[in-house]
Order: sequence, then structure tokens, then C-alpha cells
Amino acid sequence: MEKLTGLKKIKTAVFISGVGSNLKNIIKFSKLKKSPISIDLVVSNTNLAKGLKYADQFKIKKKIFNSKNFIETEKIILILLRKEKIKFICLAGFMKILSKGFIKKFDGKIINIHPSLLPKYKGLNTHSRAIKNKDIFAGCTVHYVTEKLDSGKVVMQKKIKIAASDNSISLSKKILKQEHKLYPAAIMKIFN
Ligand code: GAR
Repeated sequence: MEKLTGLKKIKTAVFISGVGSNLKNIIKFSKLKKSPISIDLVVSNTNLAKGLKYADQFKIKKKIFNSKNFIETEKIILILLRKEKIKFICLAGFMKILSKGFIKKFDGKIINIHPSLLPKYKGLNTHSRAIKNKDIFAGCTVHYVTEKLDSGKVVMQKKIKIAASDNSISLSKKILKQEHKLYPAAIMKIFN
């Protein structure tokens, strides 16, 4: 990944679908002097995403796509990304699968956070699957996005112990807390 030159931060878009706690966390991180990125665009595939409020709160441009035809939507998103000079994309609870064509246009420039110790538990319901399998550890992973779901090269991972008393809700809360530390650390790792 390119090194930072001068004071310019790398223009970044965050894609969300839901609550947006990672979005809020990344925005706050991006405001720090040490952050290599600035958040210049928030993209959501639904107007129900609660996290959209953070775009308003921090006065960041937002774009909502509700279209059923996601391939057409992706073309419009690509035009927007070009217009806004976006060079990096962070997926943060974005629940749509990006097409091969889209990913190719941003090859090596899209990262995602996933609530499991990948390659374990790709896809959904990661916490309940870890508990059901009586795993000792759970965690979260920041990885590059490739055309294969949750399969790109790992940037960083955080492992935590599953307590005997944990259920999927308590575990997801614990892991989310770790996600908020891991995502900024992974961004720092990529650009430094
Ligand atoms: C996070 O736990 C994130 O890891 C997960 O969705 C949650 C979003 O929370 N992402 C995925 O499951 C992607 N496969 P947030 O909206 O509060 O950031």
C-alpha cells in the first residue's frame, strides 16, 4: 500500500448496512492527526441503516442505494467514488456482496471487518456458531476483500476467550468492542 506523503489523508468511503458503530469509530479515528485516512463518503444499501446518522453528525456526504438491481447500483457507486476521488473503501457491517467487477476496480483497496477468526465462520451468525461448536476462542478479523466471501488476505486479527457464561449476544458485544480497536489498528498497519 502506498506510503503517506505530506499531510494529505487518503480519501476513504465507508460502506454500511446497519447500526454503524464501526463507522462512528472509524470516523473518530480518521480525525486524529495520526490517521492516514479521511472519511469523505458513507454508502448504505438501505435507508434503514441507523449508522447513517453518523454521516449527518460528522457532516460527511452520504449516499443511499435501495435498488434491487445491485449490479446497476454498483456502476452508479463507482461513478460516485470516482467523482469524490475515493481511493480506499472500508466495509463496516455492509451486508451486500460486491461483484467481481467492482472489486477489480478497487483491487487491493477494499477491506472488511468480520466478527470471527477467519477462515473460521465465513458468512452470518458467527457468534452462535462458535458457541454451538464449543469453541474456546472467538474474535474478529480485518481482511482484504476479494471476490470470494470473507476469504481475502488477513490484515489483523484479535482473539478473545469465550466465557462459559457467554451467549451469542454477550459474545457479540465483547467482540464488537475489540472490532473498534482492531479496525483502526489494521488501517494504521496497511498505510505505515
Ligand atoms: C460488526 O460486528 C461487523 O463485524 C459485522 O457486522 C457488525 C456491524 O456492526 N460484519 C459482518 O458480519 C460482515 N460479514 P456495526 O454496524 O455496529 O459496525
